[in-house]
Amino acid sequence: MNNDLYAVVGHPISHSKSPRIHSLFASETGEALEYTAIQAPLDDFAGTVQQFFERGGKGLNVTVPFKEQAWRLADQRTGRAEKAGAANTLFQDDQGLLAADNTDGCGLVRDLTVNQGIRLKDARVLVLGAGGAVRGVLGPLLAEAPASLIIANRTVAKADGLVKLFADEAAGCQLAACGFEQAKGPFDLIINGTSASLQGDLPPLPATVIRDGTAVYDMMYSLQTTTFNQWALDRGANRVMDGLGMLVEQAAESFRIWRGVTPNTSAVMDVLRND
Ligand code: ATR
Repeated sequence: MNNDLYAVVGHPISHSKSPRIHSLFASETGEALEYTAIQAPLDDFAGTVQQFFERGGKGLNVTVPFKEQAWRLADQRTGRAEKAGAANTLFQDDQGLLAADNTDGCGLVRDLTVNQGIRLKDARVLVLGAGGAVRGVLGPLLAEAPASLIIANRTVAKADGLVKLFADEAAGCQLAACGFEQAKGPFDLIINGTSASLQGDLPPLPATVIRDGTAVYDMMYSLQTTTFNQWALDRGANRVMDGLGMLVEQAAESFRIWRGVTPNTSAVMDVLRND
């Protein structure tokens, strides 16, 4: 019998670690599956998805720049995907309808709380950025009941928009928006969800955002310390983390959705760090 087929779709896709992560999960759990990478043409994501499932594919991960398209294409969405406005996990339900989920926020929260041992409850959290990546993680972050969650962005109106969108999930949490210069702090946790470092930029934050004990999490992942984390270390942050754990945890949640089995993520993170 052929193995069940899964894939990640993006453009570009050759850099993706998802095939490696999911093959490691498959060997570790003994699940019989194959996981490949597909580069969809920029103008035909929908056709690529349709073909994949017509050929018997079981599930897809979706990455840049197609997460919003995946969300629109789906016939149904989980609650967390609905609010995220983007989907990174697709599968077909029993009737063959296309279902979408978003496991990014859950992956970030699991990495922070389970792997890194960071307490989000009652914490003062600063989130940098107000694009798709940040929108995808706000729901799961707010569900942990931080004392405050401040969204700082270059374009403040976009941060304001997210505050309005998530106001009903803030409960007792102070949820507010501001520009980078207005984020005074100090904060217990700073999460960088901007793509500023791709242009070699740093958000112009005042040094007061960091106190002794501030934990800093860059949703980007790189073999070297990220530009943002280096900035934070230079200002006295004593704990910086990158997004590798989030990457592995969001993958694990997709794997669980597809296979009903939760893989052991710490072993996979160790392998990836040493690849
Ligand atoms: P993603 O899917 O990665 O979130 P996005 O939706 O384009 O991509 O959002 C990119 C985020 O990084 C935005 O918050 C953007 O700020 P604006 O909303 O003001 O555009 C932020 N960003 C990108 N380049 C930046 C830079 N050079 N300095 C500061 N913020 C930047």
